Amino acid sequence: MSATRFPPDFLWGAATSAYQIEGAVREDGRGETIWDRFCATPGKIFEGHTGEVACDHYHRFREDVALMRELGLRSYRFSVAWARILPAGFGRLNPAGLDFYQRLVDELAGSGITPMVTLYHWDLPQALQDRGGWEARDTARYFADYAVALFERLGDRVKLWITHNEPYVAAHIGYGTGEHAPGLRDQAKALQVAHHLLLSHALAVQAYRQRADAGGKIGISLDLHPAQAQSDHPQDRQAAMLYDAHQNRWFLDPVFRGRYPQELLQIAQRRHGAPRFPQEDLQTFAAAPVDFLGVNYYFRQLVRRPERKEELFLPVRPDYPGALFTEMGWEQWPGGLYELLTRLHREYGQPELYVTENGAACPDERMADGRIDDQDRVSYLREHIAAAGKALAEGVRLKGYQVWSLLDNFEWAQGYSKRFGLVHVDLRTQERRPKKSALWYSRLIERGSI
Ligand code: FCB
Repeated sequence: MSATRFPPDFLWGAATSAYQIEGAVREDGRGETIWDRFCATPGKIFEGHTGEVACDHYHRFREDVALMRELGLRSYRFSVAWARILPAGFGRLNPAGLDFYQRLVDELAGSGITPMVTLYHWDLPQALQDRGGWEARDTARYFADYAVALFERLGDRVKLWITHNEPYVAAHIGYGTGEHAPGLRDQAKALQVAHHLLLSHALAVQAYRQRADAGGKIGISLDLHPAQAQSDHPQDRQAAMLYDAHQNRWFLDPVFRGRYPQELLQIAQRRHGAPRFPQEDLQTFAAAPVDFLGVNYYFRQLVRRPERKEELFLPVRPDYPGALFTEMGWEQWPGGLYELLTRLHREYGQPELYVTENGAACPDERMADGRIDDQDRVSYLREHIAAAGKALAEGVRLKGYQVWSLLDNFEWAQGYSKRFGLVHVDLRTQERRPKKSALWYSRLIERGSI
């Protein structure tokens, strides 16, 4: 295969999120979030880990930006903790919280690193949860107000905004399976929450468009999984289609087409009585076109026909010889990224795309000299970046790629047991140490081809 050249302005970077790295959960007026509460609930997180200290990024952000600069990153995707800006979710702004992100953005600007800011990476202020969380329609309105506060304070230097990170996970893992905060198990609620997340996204996009001084771009990051039927059997194919509607199109279609996938909407409303919404919401969706789509890609999903008739599809773990899995148990399937990017280009009007997350949890054993020779992560990244490059070479409007993650960090329900970082973090000393993959990535950025 000949080398793929990436354009000189391609935004190479790495991603993190507030709760996973910041720590300092009670400092400078930050309000409690649903993740603080969830972590304090026994039995929810691996070995009772919490984000209380995490990577202590709140105090070490200068060091972390210096590290990004040394690695030659062109961009950095991070999220803002809503509860630092508005401790109660709405009402009184907390200047100290805004200052932190201003200092971070200044530091990035000083290093020539483009910020890509996610407004919501799952850490709802607990005070809003106490008023119904994302089940309450008002939360969508509060989200738009919070977004405006950030546009006002950071909008002069931040030109790439992401409203939500993976609303599927926030809704279905937070309210459906209960493995994430706030830990509820109710399908109807999950569907209603997904609707309010989508509504809040549209309201924030509209608010951004109304700003005369915006001059930037706004989009959303979705966790997308290409669905493949386990066999050609028509029922397996039908199951794969329904999985795709549930996981991917449920979010893509409202964002790009102002509607839900009809076949699944009817089933959902019949079975769960949800989501319920006024028809105008679909017009609100349609009136909020995005400038780009953020693609978070980790694995494809093999799907087969369900065994029980209450189910619509059955996700299956691939078991062909040679199948490779990361430490998360996720299958490595780089071709899925190519498939996804080309499909989005074809079916959703050739949007600008950024890969906003892609990466692997690896065992990361330290060598005797302290180095981490994470060759498995290097291979993972190389193959996925090559797949993205192939899509780019075929005309897909791919503008950037962010590795998940810059640092080893708090991996939600798995605590610190799974490491995704390009940079190793010693959680006792907070020492940062670039792994082999970081050095490899740095050279790739410099070269601009794979
Ligand atoms: C994604 C999340 C991110 C991280 C990776 C591994 O679903 O957006 O915070 O946990 O998975």
